[in-house]
Amino acid sequence: MSKVLITGGAGFIGSYVCHKLLDMGHEVVVFDAFIHYISPLKSILKQYTELRFQGIADQIDFRRGDTRDKAHLRRVILETQPERILHLAALPIADLSNRHSEEALTSILEGAVNVLEVLRDVDFVERFVYISSSMIYGDFEEIPAPEDHPKRPKEIYGGTKYAGEVMTETYSRRYGIPYSIVRPSAVYGPYDVNRRVSQIFVENALLGKPITLFSGGLQALDFTYVEDTADGIIKVMFHENGVGNAFNITYGHGYTLREFAEILQGHFPHLEVRIVEEEDVFRPKRGALSIEKAKQMVGYDPQVSLEEGIKQYLEVYRKLEVFNNK
Ligand SMILES: NC(=O)c1ccc[n+]([C@@H]2O[C@H](COP(=O)([O-])OP(=O)(O)OC[C@H]3O[C@@H](n4cnc5c(N)ncnc54)[C@H](O)[C@@H]3O)[C@@H](O)[C@H]2O)c1
Repeated sequence: MSKVLITGGAGFIGSYVCHKLLDMGHEVVVFDAFIHYISPLKSILKQYTELRFQGIADQIDFRRGDTRDKAHLRRVILETQPERILHLAALPIADLSNRHSEEALTSILEGAVNVLEVLRDVDFVERFVYISSSMIYGDFEEIPAPEDHPKRPKEIYGGTKYAGEVMTETYSRRYGIPYSIVRPSAVYGPYDVNRRVSQIFVENALLGKPITLFSGGLQALDFTYVEDTADGIIKVMFHENGVGNAFNITYGHGYTLREFAEILQGHFPHLEVRIVEEEDVFRPKRGALSIEKAKQMVGYDPQVSLEEGIKQYLEVYRKLEVFNNK
């Protein structure tokens, strides 16, 4: 059994990884600055950290800290001596990264380099897992996009995520750090509060509000249920084939926003769907990613289609009082 330190472990994806690691019998340290990216006044779900950690909070060693605070980060890693480090901490939203480009650089790139700076000096860490994004590819030229697809990020988020990958590989080559890179995409599920399209659609549907599809609703995304994302990250983190490799960890299928809306209309026949033709030209044209490499090398096997994922998401949210048991 391993001790795993998760930077950004209190977040949406990190919390699911925590549940799974504890179920497997591992020890978990969460290093997190508990940042709100959306004003807490605007968030419908107020107690999301409590909801994310229901039943497991007392089994985790929570350390509040920011990856940009180098001395504190080093101290926590030296004190806790984890065998594996999963690096999720980063400004996670593309639109926000473009608006707050300096914050994106320090949060995404400098934060990752600060962890790598500690890793060059210690020998107890058997694996560093850097969480990247499908945004590093820019416009998909090949669908499904494989891991060796050209990397032409179109905006600040994809660019800084990619720079973090390059630094992960460079430090690893120079200082012998065993690393893996994971590229998720369009992760959705209960307790995401960053106002991604999936969250807005599901919450609006539950509250009886309309949803708006931009770019004619024809943009396809590889929507991935958060349980599959967490499974894939763990597979990469523990499999020896994961070392020195980058993996797409998604469902492996592109669903358009119209298809997302149609699935929701199956649950909410009166849901009003507004379609706007306006297109954001800086948003990369994406779609399915190839997950063959992860399937073959680390045994990744995603289970949850978008139809099933939306059903499970709604089941959890219908029990919450804030949605009035709709
Ligand atoms: N959700 C997605 O669809 C998606 C897709 C691709 C990649 N990712 C990546 O996955 C990671 C996690 O995303 P998420 O959706 O769980 O976001 P999230 O906002 O729910 O979680 C991020 C967590 O990191 C913490 N954090 C941020 N900056 C920090 C810092 N400098 N020091 C310490 N803690 C910090 C935040 O407090 C938060 O708890 C991010 O790196 C994101 O870029 C997410």
